[in-house]
Amino acid sequence: MKAKHIAAAVIPVVVPALFATVAFAGEYDAIKTAAGAEFFDKECHRCHSVDADRASYGPLLTGVVGRAAGTFEGYPYSDALSNAGFVWTKGAIRAWMEDNDALVPGTKMRHVGVSDPTVQDFIVTYLASISE
Ligand code: HEC
Repeated sequence: MKAKHIAAAVIPVVVPALFATVAFAGEYDAIKTAAGAEFFDKECHRCHSVDADRASYGPLLTGVVGRAAGTFEGYPYSDALSNAGFVWTKGAIRAWMEDNDALVPGTKMRHVGVSDPTVQDFIVTYLASISE
């Protein structure tokens, strides 16, 4: 088969498959975000607001992905978190959920211990969705 013929045979099969993958990725994220919102309600919401108009015991988590640790304006952080000196990547938030006292010794956030990586992934996907 000449190259032109191969292209003619392959493109109609491969291109729609690529689009299908992209559509799935979007759908997966939507499902993960919805599941993450439920887990967030169960594990985090009692201390953390995601609404800037509502004060909460913990700092506001809207926009936390990509924010420097301990820097939400006006929140009375522990010295440990104020001086942590890192940025909240998705990986850092996973580590924090798993063992916040180990990541930042001296933090005043009570240990939550979300150790299931699937649950961590859902919650982080949800937090990223409210950070954009
Ligand atoms: C019992 C209350 C409580 C629960 C439950 C809780 N947090 Fe916190 N969280 C806090 C407090 C208080 C702080 C501030 C800690 C400090 O200043 O040392 C904090 C800080 C944080 C920060 C750092 C934010 C910043 O601006 O640097 C993140 C991220 C965070 N929590 C995520 C979570 C997630 C995700 C969950 C659920 C899995 C959760 N927290 C559950 C009380 C809580």
